[in-house]
Amino acid sequence: MKLFKHLLPLAIVLSLGTAVSRAEDTPMEKEMSAMNKAYKALKKQIEDPSKKAENLALLAEIKKTSEASAKLEPKTAADQGAQKAAYLEKFRAQMADYVKAVASVETAVNAGDTAGAKAAFDKLNDLKKKGHEDFKKD
Ligand code: HEM
Repeated sequence: MKLFKHLLPLAIVLSLGTAVSRAEDTPMEKEMSAMNKAYKALKKQIEDPSKKAENLALLAEIKKTSEASAKLEPKTAADQGAQKAAYLEKFRAQMADYVKAVASVETAVNAGDTAGAKAAFDKLNDLKKKGHEDFKKD
């Protein structure tokens, strides 16, 4: 009980801290964070055929968050001046490629093609790296 008394304020402070940092996130950062969670979970079990239903649910979450991100503007768009429209067009094209790559993973998981699912999944990481290099600060 004494321990609980000490831990409760700590838990409140920690959860407030999380709420504050979340509030500062851009809408795209919120979508990306949700995508990241699903992506990491999927990475652990993409080769496990017994997790088919769960993997399809994780892929649906990745698809939802990437489609939502494609409708938003990255923070870096604000620094593009006259190039902004072209920059956003390039961003949306890369996001569309990413959404297609997610659909390929989905097709392989649906077909029970574990090796194909893993190969398609690995491509997501390449697109993520490229997307972050091209459109994300730091
Ligand atoms: C496996 C796929 C991906 C994962 C797991 C991922 C994950 C993340 C994470 C964790 C963040 C930081 C969020 C935060 O600060 O709270 C982020 C930010 C960002 N990501 Fe991704 N990402 C992926 C794919 C992509 C792709 C394909 C693009 C672009 C074509 C992209 C563009 C960005 C941008 C622009 C930001 C900064 C957000 C802003 O400017 O507001 N990401 N991503």
